[in-house]
Amino acid sequence: MSALPETPARRRLRRFALAAVVTNLIIVVTGASVRVTGSGLGCPTWPSCDGERLVPSAEHGWHGALEFGNRLLTFPVLAAAVAVVVWLYLTRPHPPALMRFAWVLPIGVAGQVLLGGITVLSGLTPITVAGHFLLSMVLILAAVTVHEMSRPGREREPRVGPSLRHLTTAVAIVGLIVLVLGTVTTSAGPHGGDVNAPRLDLDIRLAALAHADAVWLLLGLTVALVLVTWRLGPSRLRAAARALLAIVLLQGAIGYTQYALGVPEPLVILHVAGAAAMWATASAAWIRARPELGARPDVSGWSEPDEAGRRDHDAESVADAGPSAAASDEVASPR
Ligand code: HEM
Repeated sequence: MSALPETPARRRLRRFALAAVVTNLIIVVTGASVRVTGSGLGCPTWPSCDGERLVPSAEHGWHGALEFGNRLLTFPVLAAAVAVVVWLYLTRPHPPALMRFAWVLPIGVAGQVLLGGITVLSGLTPITVAGHFLLSMVLILAAVTVHEMSRPGREREPRVGPSLRHLTTAVAIVGLIVLVLGTVTTSAGPHGGDVNAPRLDLDIRLAALAHADAVWLLLGLTVALVLVTWRLGPSRLRAAARALLAIVLLQGAIGYTQYALGVPEPLVILHVAGAAAMWATASAAWIRARPELGARPDVSGWSEPDEAGRRDHDAESVADAGPSAAASDEVASPR
């Protein structure tokens, strides 16, 4: 089965979407660094650093620099999100599903700006800190989905049966439950982002137990996904399933180790990075099990005809418009 050809427009969208994935992963990890170093109120107010100055001064120390540095990372995250949407509009039309996932990016970043402000102004209430992390997961899901939807040849991949599709949905749902229970565990733990940050009145052992139980369920579902796709199923879904299994195993090992060692800061940061990687991979598996989603060649700004169709089209164009028409066979798109 031949793949639809790559075009500069499609390639550029993939780069923007990849930038959205990477910038979100980075800000999640730097955000965790702000939290575990107790720098969450390094700039004690918002949107300015201290009510008078926009940027921190020497008196805010390295906590202020770290927290403000994390605020600045919003700009690359926003730039990638806006680039995805603007580029899709410049190369429209596109399937509604692709546009919807793309719009999640700038709207989500705007939400993060507000939620970040509320988090600081509320003195780092656990629920806002958790919401801040979970909204980043929504952004990662959207960015991974847009990236996957803009891959050449996707439109022609074999359809996946309903059981396998449901299995990827179950993996994503249980993955999300693991993330939510992880944030509950954090809320009951010592790393609130500031010595005076409020903590959830909950036994961390109970929270960690529920969190780890959900991980075992996720592991079981991931093993099932690996087995079901072992021989059958699209190769990219198989690759995502195997990568997910490796990440869940590694992440589980990090989780138990950090719990046993009393949540040392470097392991907590690694654990957050692993959580974001788990979610990006589960999102990839989910969308790869749905090659039909957002793949409507009839409504796509880069819906190139196939090889045969292209030759016919070129021949007609030459006949209709003369030799100059054949010289340009790319999608009409800005470069
Ligand atoms: C797929 C496997 C796992 C994933 C995706 C995951 C994800 C997470 C997430 C998202 C958080 C919250 C991070 C934050 O709020 O910034 C967290 C915290 C935590 N996780 Fe996991 N986790 C996994 C496995 C485990 C396991 C097996 C344990 C063992 C008990 C564990 C123990 C913890 C602990 C103790 C915390 C709180 C850390 C803190 O106080 O900051 N995790 N996890």
